[in-house]
Formats: sequence, C-alpha cells, structure tokens
Amino acid sequence: MNVAYIKAQVKGIIGKEIFFYETVGSTNTVAAELSEKTSEGAVVLADSQERGRGRLGRTWISPAGVNIHISVILRPKMEIRDATLITIMAAVACATALRKTTGLDVSIKWPNDLTVSGKKLGGILTDLKTEKGAITAAIVGIGINVNSDTDIFPGEVNRIATSVKKETGNLASREAIAIAVLDEMDRWYTILQEVDNNMLLSEWKRLTSTLGKKVVVIVGEETLMGTAEAIDDEGRLLLTLPSGEIKRISSGDLTVLR
Ligand code: BTN
Repeated sequence: MNVAYIKAQVKGIIGKEIFFYETVGSTNTVAAELSEKTSEGAVVLADSQERGRGRLGRTWISPAGVNIHISVILRPKMEIRDATLITIMAAVACATALRKTTGLDVSIKWPNDLTVSGKKLGGILTDLKTEKGAITAAIVGIGINVNSDTDIFPGEVNRIATSVKKETGNLASREAIAIAVLDEMDRWYTILQEVDNNMLLSEWKRLTSTLGKKVVVIVGEETLMGTAEAIDDEGRLLLTLPSGEIKRISSGDLTVLR
C-alpha cells in the first residue's frame, strides 16, 4: 500500500496524518489508543488485521494485501444520542467514493452495510470514547473488500459477501479507493458538523436500498418483521409491524426479504 501517495493526494484534514501498520489486531483498537495524542482526522491504516472486528461482536476477515482496513479518529461536537449520524455520514461517504472509483451501483443497507446487488462489499464499525456524558472521540472503522476472492470467507459469509474485484472482474487500486473514501468523509463530515443533518439524511435516503422493503430485524433477543418505512433525524429505523405499530430501532441486524 503506497501510504505516501495517499497522504499526498487527500484534499482535507482526514488522512493528512496516517499511521500505517503491516498488521494489527484491529485498527479500531489502535486508533482508540492513539486518539488521545493525535489531531482530528488522523487515520490508522493496516494491510491486514489479526482480530478484525465487525458489528454485533462478529469477526471481520482481514487478509493481507487485498482489502482496505481504515480507522478514522474524529472529535464530533454532538450529543451521544446523535452518534448514529457519524456512521450514517461514513456510509454515505464510502458509498459515494466506491461509486465514483469503481462504477459499481453501491448502496447502503441500514444501518451501515455497503452492498452491491444485495451482497456485502464493506461495513462500518464506530466506537465512541466518552467522558462525563460527552463524546471525546469517535473511531470510525471502515472495512472494504477490494481485491479479495470471496472464497476466503467461511461458508455462510461467502454466500452474502462480495468484493470490488468479484463484481467488476478487475483488480482495483486500493489507494484510489482509500483516497476517495477519505476525501468524501472530509466533505460529509464538514456537512454534518457545519451545515445540517437534512442534507446528509436525504443523501443517505437516495443511496439506501432498505426503505420501502419488507425486512426482518434482529434486535437483541427479539426478531421483528415489518416494512422499513423511514429513518428519523437521529438515524433510527422506523419499522412498521403487521399490526400497524411503528418501532424505532437504533441498532440491529437487518435482512431484506425477497
Ligand atoms: C460490519 O460488521 O459490517 C463492520 C465491519 C467493520 C470492519 C472494519 S475494518 C477496519 C476497522 N477495524 C476493525 O476491527 N473493524 C473495522
């Protein structure tokens, strides 16, 4: 990975400082440790991860030399209850960057999966550091399957995962995708912090493949089936149950029914 090139090409503050590792446990863990001594926009980038973390306690398979594993350190000025917007912002940035650099029709599955034709191309895991009820840092971890062959994934994951190479048939430049991701994040983070949430939320709605669909959402021990109606101003999903009751869901595992 040509880190000097990425640093030279990025336009904003995100990615101007990059800590590169051949391998780490998890870039999110390293970024959390570094977050106290770095400025906003610093990035941890690793060629591979030994203990890559996914949402809901899952493992994120992170082989060497093929994919992107990035964690961005942010210091958002917002209430903890609005923190879902950080992940929404990152999903919009990644989907836009991937569309521009690969030409693929990338969409967002609530809350933060990056998908192509219903298969998962990447994901986002945001870890918050808080003190006295305020956010001191948000670590936005981004994993994108770029040049991996999908048979590296175990059984079930193999069926639902994909990569840029698998979808386009060509090897892609990890550097070009990383630069686009960091630039789009710089742009959407500025919009989130300085303009307003509506612009971000309406772009998320344009890019999502979830709204209007019949879905199943697993929330802790509960399995809910219904229609994904909308997302609210805090990024929560509004699910209409068959009874007509509307549930607001902050976080869960969603499957679109066909
Ligand atoms: C998901 O479950 O969809 C989220 C996956 C997030 C993976 C990325 S890879 C870089 C960063 N470091 C980690 O350990 N996880 C995130």
